[in-house]
Amino acid sequence: MENNEDRDYRSEMRQCQIDVEERLRCFFSSETSYSGLLEAMRYSLLAGGKRIRAVMCIKFCEAAGGRLEAALDAACAIEMLHAYSLIHDDLPCMDNSDTRRGKPSNHIKFGESTATLAGDALQAAAFGTLLDSELPPAAIIGMAQAFAHAAGPHGICGGQYLDLLGESKIYSSDEVAQTHSLKTAALISASARIGVVAAGGSPEQVKAAEEYALAVGLAFQIRDDVLDVTASEQNLGKPVGSDRENEKNTFTALMGLDACEDIIAAETEKAIGALSGKFDNGGFLVWFARMLSERKY
Ligand code: IPE
Ligand code: IPE
Ligand code: MG
Ligand code: MG
Ligand code: MG
Repeated sequence: MENNEDRDYRSEMRQCQIDVEERLRCFFSSETSYSGLLEAMRYSLLAGGKRIRAVMCIKFCEAAGGRLEAALDAACAIEMLHAYSLIHDDLPCMDNSDTRRGKPSNHIKFGESTATLAGDALQAAAFGTLLDSELPPAAIIGMAQAFAHAAGPHGICGGQYLDLLGESKIYSSDEVAQTHSLKTAALISASARIGVVAAGGSPEQVKAAEEYALAVGLAFQIRDDVLDVTASEQNLGKPVGSDRENEKNTFTALMGLDACEDIIAAETEKAIGALSGKFDNGGFLVWFARMLSERKY
């Protein structure tokens, strides 16, 4: 049952999600001859989503002594990059998924070519938004480096490559962990790092934030794989059973559901351990890791 502390953290999270939604609505709304592209970008960017990467960025900024305003645009940039990765992930040449966040996937609604371009444009706009943050130049460079690392061959693209390559072979648990870490945990880790950098946090805090978020990120993708087996399409807003259909390498296929619960719990405690003593204000982040580990959608 939820106690008062849980309720307080949950409402803090909701407020953070509201702030992010409000800011995200300001982007890509101009009238132009290519408004159709902007519409496709806004469709996926504003389609809902849990905003966990944005919340993580903002809460790490606050935990390191910064204000929400310092991290808000960076958090929006992270959600843009994430939205791009989902649009491309759903394309017929990747996971071939027709629904996302309870609505038709971008390519179902706008066609494959517009969806591809909307993803490309969101990725470029994400870098632009990050670089436009009103922060000292050194902080912006640090954030952009983290972002580029998470987006590129050593992050999302490398992980998505391994994910697709794995459709025709069986991976070891180390190989699945590497795939998950690159395609999912890398951006979650960058979100945490960027939050600390936005606050002007110490190198020890940056290191702790990354360690926390890499473990949370791995647990997050394993939970996603579990939900693909155990949840309903209505709850998730995306197809279930799709990993099996696509012959994906997942921890669920490799080890079964019970072992997945053990790994999720262990990674979550590892994440929480990484925070110890590094932030004055880390209570929310402890709650957040546990809440994510138990999520139902
Ligand atoms: C989905 O991410 C893709 C994964 C990395 C598992 P989320 O579960 O964060 O998706 P939204 O943003 O809430 O829709
Ligand atoms: C995460 O993996 C994909 C990205 C990094 C974009 P999945 O392919 O499992 O994500 P869902 O289940 O489609 O959201
Ligand atoms: Mg995928
Ligand atoms: Mg997918
Ligand atoms: Mg999935």
